[in-house]
Amino acid sequence: MKPDALDRALATGDGPTIVCAQAGNVNTGAFDPLDAIADVTGRHRAWLHVDGAFGLWAAASETLKPHTRGVERADSWATDAHKWLNVPYDSGLVFVAHPAAHRAAMSVSAAYLLRSPEEPREPMDWTPEASRRARGFAVYAALRSLGRRGVEDLVDRCCRLARRFADRLRQEPVIQILNEVVLNQVLVRVAPPTGDADAATREALRVIQEERVCWLGGTRWRDMDAMRISVSNWSTTESDVDRSADSIIRATRRQA
Ligand SMILES: Cc1ncc(COP(=O)(O)O)c(C=O)c1O
Repeated sequence: MKPDALDRALATGDGPTIVCAQAGNVNTGAFDPLDAIADVTGRHRAWLHVDGAFGLWAAASETLKPHTRGVERADSWATDAHKWLNVPYDSGLVFVAHPAAHRAAMSVSAAYLLRSPEEPREPMDWTPEASRRARGFAVYAALRSLGRRGVEDLVDRCCRLARRFADRLRQEPVIQILNEVVLNQVLVRVAPPTGDADAATREALRVIQEERVCWLGGTRWRDMDAMRISVSNWSTTESDVDRSADSIIRATRRQA
């Protein structure tokens, strides 16, 4: 997101506005400049929400934390524990800096839901569901067992492995790494000297998925087809990355 373009866009609006910035773009892992965006939303009295589905976890890492600078100025964050923390679906986490707004948006009332002014904090007032299983238990257990250091190590390790992927794949003349590998995402494109790079990328992806050494998805980024590597599992090792890179290279050589 470009803060100056946002500034101009917000100047034309006339109602309550929510600006959704990203910590960890789904394709590139990139971070929006949150500090500069918070300056703009502050000036225009817009609500700043940060989608940090996986990128917010970068804040646990001393080396990656600078990417999230300014996130503390947002009005709300969303992140997922079922992504980088590796707990089961669907453990979404939301943090809202304004308790009254949060509660007003989520609480429900009905005749059969008898309330009393003395009751303790009622979870139903803060989430979209009245009934749910104890998802928080797995999240709590994972955080307790990993500790601050364990989460940092998990995040740093996955990012190191993403760079390892990019370094290996970059050696291949027909492979382009489209993004700057700032987090755990690597965008891979097959660009043969002649022929259709989009078609070659899609075909390589099909072959890789069929071979089943690793699984990666496809995407479209800046008008280009690409393969999207996302290293986010706690059990992934260097040798997994090397075997997966070999599989990707085998598939791309067939397109050259
Ligand atoms: C950046 C980002 N935001 C939002 C989502 C959606 O998350 P969920 O599937 O938990 O709704 C994803 C899922 O990949 C994501 O990567």
